Amino acid sequence: MKIARFSRLGFILAAVGSAVGLGNIWKFPYIAGENGGGAFVLIYLVTVLLIGFSILIAEMIIGYKGRKDGISCFESLAPKHKNIWKFAGFQSITGLFIMSFYSVVIGWIFNYIVTSTTSLPSSVQEAEATFTTMLHSDISTQLFYHTLTFLLITFILTKGIKGGIQRLNFILMPTLVIILLGMFAYALTLDAFSQSLEFMFAPKWEKINSGVFITAIGHAFFTLSLGMGAILTYSASMPKNSNLVQNALWITFLDTLIAIVAGLMLFTFLYEYGSSPTKGPGLVFISLPTVFYEMGIIGNFFAVLFFIALAFAGLTSAVSLVEPMIEYFINRFKWSRLKASIYMGLFFYSLGIAALLSNTDAYKELLSFGSKNLFDWIDFFTASVMLPLAGLIMALFVGFAVEKKRVESVVKHQFGALAFSIWYFSLRYITPVAMILLLLSLLEII
Ligand code: PFF
Repeated sequence: MKIARFSRLGFILAAVGSAVGLGNIWKFPYIAGENGGGAFVLIYLVTVLLIGFSILIAEMIIGYKGRKDGISCFESLAPKHKNIWKFAGFQSITGLFIMSFYSVVIGWIFNYIVTSTTSLPSSVQEAEATFTTMLHSDISTQLFYHTLTFLLITFILTKGIKGGIQRLNFILMPTLVIILLGMFAYALTLDAFSQSLEFMFAPKWEKINSGVFITAIGHAFFTLSLGMGAILTYSASMPKNSNLVQNALWITFLDTLIAIVAGLMLFTFLYEYGSSPTKGPGLVFISLPTVFYEMGIIGNFFAVLFFIALAFAGLTSAVSLVEPMIEYFINRFKWSRLKASIYMGLFFYSLGIAALLSNTDAYKELLSFGSKNLFDWIDFFTASVMLPLAGLIMALFVGFAVEKKRVESVVKHQFGALAFSIWYFSLRYITPVAMILLLLSLLEII
């Protein structure tokens, strides 16, 4: 069967679309806020460059050389031990788990797009009440928008790589960048911009502890969409003779740039209108709407634009969370794309309903286990455990199981000899050690 491939630009846009998501605009600013601002940002940048980038290249090589779904790629690149390595491919399932709560959050965003057109909360208390009411008791609204997300994503995925994923990214990604840059330009004109710069880049070292490192590494993985077969699956449809290193640099650069632009913009708005930047997950749903209210009439316009940008970022990531398992069922079980898309959609949709209910007063007891509810468990388990584990496995796979000659033949000339040696060393030793330390330290946290 002939596989439909991305175009060159299509691949970069789709991979950047996957990387730039709720993680950049919703998660990054609040975890930076909670973990000491500048100090976290610096640790995060180093982790992205040292560990994230190394594994990004490794994951791209696996997809690009394997040319199939995640599991088959591992098998064909390590034919001698394929029965063991094929289990590494099961990381693709993580995407469906992430997608369950990701879809719920996209649903909240849709709801905010609609409500922001007419009304914005006039105080933090009001904003908080609106958000918590939605979260804890408004099951029908959340369910409605979660269903909408499910239908939309499943529909796009039935259209395949070129007609669905690539086309979606060609439209949404440039629009997202234009909206963000426009709002950033406005933030630049405000006095609080310098405060925001200071918050993001002046390190408060006293806030740093091992938990901050774990969060930073976990987020580096999450934001680059590593460790769940998304980049791998996209790379399997990369055009022949692509420059992997150049593509990886673009992805890392744009993903980091957008997180920083979004963070600087949000913190400027928050400081300018007297709110605090350390607000947790409610940052964009509680603090920000109040800030938009303070802006006056332009605020409604900004609020709608902002939430549209956030939804676009979420949608382009969402498709990449589900596609790996779709490819798997198409390749291995000869399912039609329609059937695979619907079944995978139904999987994340049902789990998403359970995650959504676990936040509500009515069901939280039923759906909480130990210290967290289902929603938080899925988030924690995927971002902090599954992704680093998959990262470790991929580093070892490309570092040791795949013949060095094979790896060299793909990327050595793209890197240059020295950079190749540094990358290869980091992949074989630095990254695995970091991942093992990270996973060990989790034992204490849990
Ligand atoms: N990178 C996305 C974000 O930052 O929101 C999340 C994500 C998408 C993770 C796709 C993993 C993935 F496969």
